[in-house]
Amino acid sequence: MRNLFPILMLITNLSLNNDTTNNSNNNNNNNLIHTTCRATPNYSLCLTTLQSDPRTYEAEGGDVITTLGLVMVDAVKLKSVQITERLKELEKSNPEWRVPLSQCYMAYYAVQRADVTVAVEALKKGDPKFAEHGMADVVVEAETCEYSFEYKKLVSPISDMNRDIIELSKVAKSIIRMLL
Ligand SMILES: *[C@@H]1O[C@H](CO)[C@@H](O)[C@H](O)[C@H]1NC(C)=O
Ligand SMILES: *[C@@H]1O[C@H](CO)[C@@H](O)[C@H](O)[C@H]1NC(C)=O
Repeated sequence: MRNLFPILMLITNLSLNNDTTNNSNNNNNNNLIHTTCRATPNYSLCLTTLQSDPRTYEAEGGDVITTLGLVMVDAVKLKSVQITERLKELEKSNPEWRVPLSQCYMAYYAVQRADVTVAVEALKKGDPKFAEHGMADVVVEAETCEYSFEYKKLVSPISDMNRDIIELSKVAKSIIRMLL
């Protein structure tokens, strides 16, 4: 029984050491996340988005910012998928909005098929300039969608979602600019 004691101590020490290593790695990224988000136009949105993705904490070494950029671009992608779903629902509930809704649909098709795809590839290839262009275009597409309702003298039913994706892509763009 007495002989087990050193082994238990060893195990405890090992797990303590692991915890310390893990924590210091997480804390390092945490500081970087806060510093990075403070340099973007929407600190709290940046923080909650990055903190909700495990890749934020797994990233190590010189390309942590690239990973943070990819996380933000994926958040833009997810939001555009959600907007597209919403557009389909609205098309059923409000067929009289067919024209502006189809313009929005085309705008968000471009966001997913062009902007987001290009941005992901560009970031992975270490070519952030193209990723920046992609995120800048998301703002244009969201504004086009918004304007397609205004043009028909309608109150946009998806203003909140358009604003959210504009905020997300501005944050993504400013993180990507840190790589230029
Ligand atoms: C923490 O350390 C353990 C043991 O080394 C490892 O398996 C685990 O992946 C680490 N977790 C994180 C979040 O780094
Ligand atoms: C940040 O983004 C959220 C979500 O779109 C928005 O509600 C909030 O007003 C924004 N904050 C700032 C400071 O722009």
